[in-house]
Amino acid sequence: MTILLFTSSSLISVAKDSAARRTRISCSRDSVVKMQKNLIGTDSVYSSFSLCPCGRRHFLGEATTPFLPISPSYVSRASASNSTDVLNKLRPPKADWYLELYGWFRTREKEKCEKEIACYKTKLFENLVGKAERVLEIGIGAGPNIKYYNTIPNVSVLGVDPNPKMESYARKSAIKAGLKSEDFKFIHAVAESIPLEDASVDAVVGSLVMCSVTDITQTLNEIKRILRPGGVYLFMEHVAAEDGSFLRLVQNVLDPVQQVVADGCHLTRHTGDYILEAGFNGGVDINKASLSSFYHLSPHVYGVAYK
Ligand SMILES: C[S@@+](CC[C@H](N)C(=O)[O-])C[C@H]1O[C@@H](n2cnc3c(N)ncnc32)[C@H](O)[C@@H]1O
Repeated sequence: MTILLFTSSSLISVAKDSAARRTRISCSRDSVVKMQKNLIGTDSVYSSFSLCPCGRRHFLGEATTPFLPISPSYVSRASASNSTDVLNKLRPPKADWYLELYGWFRTREKEKCEKEIACYKTKLFENLVGKAERVLEIGIGAGPNIKYYNTIPNVSVLGVDPNPKMESYARKSAIKAGLKSEDFKFIHAVAESIPLEDASVDAVVGSLVMCSVTDITQTLNEIKRILRPGGVYLFMEHVAAEDGSFLRLVQNVLDPVQQVVADGCHLTRHTGDYILEAGFNGGVDINKASLSSFYHLSPHVYGVAYK
């Protein structure tokens, strides 16, 4: 059943309500007609106009109907040896200097971009407080999110990343955030094959990582597999700009270069659509924002998916 909820302001919220599935959307009046048309025959819709939790106004994109490729399943249940095979297959070892340089670059970027993104993340990570103790972060990188975990009582953090040089940066972030060393573990693996048991974590977090994984669908399957029932997946990802926009043209041109200089990062992925279509039983809350400090890595989708 689809319910339209009108609010007092110019915002309209749409909730697709069923016992097993939940998708919420908010959008501007201008795009309501389009949204209603899109709702017929598709679940793939997300926020198109909203206010940031910190009060800034943001552009939000319109509903889309993706065509998602069917991808192979590398593993049905990841064991440590399977995961190493998949890691070596998807991310063959690269030169040490390249991995080190990229790790160093990520720590610099972290400082630069965190200011603008912090208000979103603060709100997003509140979803973990009181609900999650064992948290897995995919593509943890230099660990810019670790400071958000220290408000969670009894938290233990597992960080997955195929770049082994990220471990020391992530560990430094963990110490700086006040995590005990036994409460942080770095796992050298890819998110497409995570060496953890089914239903073994309360939450999965991923920021700016779906742009870099080899297989988004398989990564989402792994997230669903390792999450316990009722667990949450928090995401914040940069995605392709609107078709036909100048920014999208820039992204199309820069995309091949970006993949080389930024360790496989793609600029034109429709990650939000993949998340919406991944079949999270509890539904997905998804929003879109434009962040000026990210230049061509904009807009972003962020939100929570519920297993
Ligand atoms: C752009 S950085 C983002 C790092 C961090 N999450 C952040 O928000 O700054 C992308 C990270 O994803 C990692 N990565 C790339 N491919 C991956 C994969 N298949 N599975 C998991 N992580 C991956 C990279 O090594 C890198 O640390």
